[in-house]
Amino acid sequence: MVVQSAMDLQFFSYATLFLFSFLMVKTMVSIKNRSKLPPGPLALPVIGHLHLLSSHIHQTFHKLSSAYGPLMFLRIGSINCIVASSPELAEELLKTHELTFSARKHNAAIHHLTYDSSFAFAPYGPYWKFIKKFSTIELLGHRTLGQFHPVRTKELHHFIRFLLDKSKECETVNVTEELLKLTNNVISQMMLGIRCSETGEETDGVQTLVRQVSQIIGEFNVSDVIWFCKHLDLQGFRKRFEDIHTRYDTLLEKIISDREHVRKNKKRNDDDEVKDFLDMLLDVFDDANSEVQLTRNHIKALILDFLTAGTDTSGSAIEWALAELINNPEVLRKAQKEIDEVVGKTRLVQESDTCHLPYLEAIIKESFRLHPPIPMISRKAIEECNIKGYTIPAQSLLFVNMWSVARDPKLWEDPLKFQPERFLKPNGADNNSSTVDVKGHHYQLLPFGTGRRSCVGMSLAMQELPVTLAAMIQCFDWKATETPNTGGVDMTERPGLVVPRAKDLKCIPIARFIPPLFAI
Ligand code: HEM
Repeated sequence: MVVQSAMDLQFFSYATLFLFSFLMVKTMVSIKNRSKLPPGPLALPVIGHLHLLSSHIHQTFHKLSSAYGPLMFLRIGSINCIVASSPELAEELLKTHELTFSARKHNAAIHHLTYDSSFAFAPYGPYWKFIKKFSTIELLGHRTLGQFHPVRTKELHHFIRFLLDKSKECETVNVTEELLKLTNNVISQMMLGIRCSETGEETDGVQTLVRQVSQIIGEFNVSDVIWFCKHLDLQGFRKRFEDIHTRYDTLLEKIISDREHVRKNKKRNDDDEVKDFLDMLLDVFDDANSEVQLTRNHIKALILDFLTAGTDTSGSAIEWALAELINNPEVLRKAQKEIDEVVGKTRLVQESDTCHLPYLEAIIKESFRLHPPIPMISRKAIEECNIKGYTIPAQSLLFVNMWSVARDPKLWEDPLKFQPERFLKPNGADNNSSTVDVKGHHYQLLPFGTGRRSCVGMSLAMQELPVTLAAMIQCFDWKATETPNTGGVDMTERPGLVVPRAKDLKCIPIARFIPPLFAI
């Protein structure tokens, strides 16, 4: 009996020693691994750094980066996150390691809302490559953009006429809503052949829907990042995205079925006909020999991708620029003078004029710098990699915080001031010269991202945006009706993947030039 107890004791001691050594080694390995990660604040058990996040994630990251440096590691629940906030790191991560960071994040909202068939959130693989080629050449290619030029012009004229009517009556205009309708009508005609933002029964509220989609996709959902909350809906997230999905699906089903009906009854081979996206996608859907076989869900997901990506981004970009012009009247005067000199006083500015308006171009760059509609370029690492001696674990989410880059005094003189002149300096290797463009080659200004996963809608946006802003300031002065104590327009941001102004911009347009076309 005594012998047995002695043996038990001996076994227990060995087991304890083994367990202790195992835990010691594990802790040491984990400390060693942790020391290879980029710096960051101390994480709490289970939630990591979740408690540090505010709804304006890019602003939180900016504050933390000023304490922990331009390459920072955070753990949001169980998700590893890397935050980069310098042009050098943007280049290293998005160019040197482009393929490593060629994927995007995925979560329950994206999965559900995009029928798990999105292009914008697809992994870098055959489906993404097929749609990338298709959208660059067909959907948003040079020829298609040219074919839809009359649509863009008609929509712009419609918008200016509406503003002139309001101006005559001295009425306030909700500029935010009207700009969303304008950009939504352009993209919805290109995609579906209909003006989605007219008050009609089947199209009502599309611009609200797309805004809700871009907002929810940009938020952190606790159920996505903390494993034991996976099946709980603590923030009412699931309820919200299921509701958006149901409304969107009903709308799209009707539009697609109507189009299928029209196609069945139509004679083929009308070569002169301008095809919209839906027709082009249904052609691929019907083609049994297509490289990738599209399903109905793919079509619905692609329409959602492009409607969402093409409405809120462009609308808020124009709104931010106009808000800055209202707050900086001397910049507005200079821009109006440039337009008057280049375009004259006989006609409305048009798309082909904008390449002769360098000051306007500088205003747009400056507005993109301070208010990038998508403030962080978000990707996911498909494999582990090493950046500046630090280990970036596979599956980490990467956030390149361009909003933060724009606020770095080492890169920009008076970074918070709206100074388009900084982009007019001739040549020079400095950050602010006129040689800096928005096409993804200058890592201090990446409004459309960079590399393979950069924005496919850039050409469309850069045709739509300058001419719309130019027409708005050629024809009107703008009197904001709701200005806080500071006297200017409030520049608070709304959270989300796309970051527009928090409050709708309401103004009275005061006509300064009525193009003869509109004088009746
Ligand atoms: C001012 C307007 C716009 C801005 C600022 C903008 C910005 C961006 C940014 C920052 C990205 C991510 C790029 C990256 O990861 O490197 C992106 C992706 C994308 N954009 Fe845009 N965008 C705009 C307009 C448009 C328009 C008009 C469309 C389509 C009609 C569009 C369609 C897309 C799509 C489909 C993607 C995903 C591309 C991919 O994952 O491969 N965007 N955009």
